[in-house]
Amino acid sequence: MPFVQEETVNELYPMIFKRKSFHTFRSGEPLKATDLQAIQERCSSLQPLVSTIRISFRIVPQSATTCPQGEYCILIYSEKKPLHLQNAGYLGEQLDLWLAAQNIGCCWYGMGKIEENSVDGLDFIIMLTIARQEEASFRKDYRKAKRKEIGEIWEGVELPEVASVVRYAPSACNTQPWKVTATDQTLHVERVGGRRGIMPAHVVPYYNRIDIGIFLLFLDLCLAHEGIAFDRNFSEETAEYTLHC
Ligand SMILES: Cc1cc2nc3c(=O)[nH]c(=O)nc-3n(C[C@H](O)[C@H](O)[C@H](O)COP(=O)(O)O)c2cc1C
Repeated sequence: MPFVQEETVNELYPMIFKRKSFHTFRSGEPLKATDLQAIQERCSSLQPLVSTIRISFRIVPQSATTCPQGEYCILIYSEKKPLHLQNAGYLGEQLDLWLAAQNIGCCWYGMGKIEENSVDGLDFIIMLTIARQEEASFRKDYRKAKRKEIGEIWEGVELPEVASVVRYAPSACNTQPWKVTATDQTLHVERVGGRRGIMPAHVVPYYNRIDIGIFLLFLDLCLAHEGIAFDRNFSEETAEYTLHC
């Protein structure tokens, strides 16, 4: 059984090329109650990276947060366990891509704060800010998005269809803290340091673990899209994929 269902791959993979971070939103139609209900329902059916980690999503008006943008914010709360940040990234990115398919603009907002730092015993992890946007406001040419060169993020056996797409995963301050080392049958993914943009050094490991979860979702979607079956397991710093091809 694949980690991401075929239907989900068909729905989300094309959104890799359409999504972008809405650092500013154009004025658009307000989200309706039915939109908010659809988002909440989607939150309940996301595929986790680690199924034993309890997680919860809350949708609140943007004004209830310190986020200056958007109409609503989706707050991610999680149980604190090994890999909980990667799990939050993996889940939140499924939302980012799905929202693009609904023409709802989105931006991960790491800087955002909220008063309710704990809900049902779960800790606040991060938020995404959202607002409905015109289709034309989404990314037109993904190749223009600034990313590291493929050679910087992928070493060893080439898998061009995967490497050339997975590199477009979003990350905090565009740090792209990932490196893949490939053999014919395996992919070793590790979290790497280096760039940190305007982020204070002490928060980098936090956000970069969320980034790795986002990257693993992109990797799963790309492998599934290429029809490559795989098994995978994780530690806090690495992910090991065994490819069946
Ligand atoms: C975990 C995470 C946190 C982020 N936090 C912020 C933020 O606080 N403010 C912001 O404007 N953008 C934020 N971003 C958006 C990134 O800057 C953006 O994803 C990156 O520059 C790549 O651009 P793109 O998403 O348009 O492809 C965040 C992204 C991620 C993945």
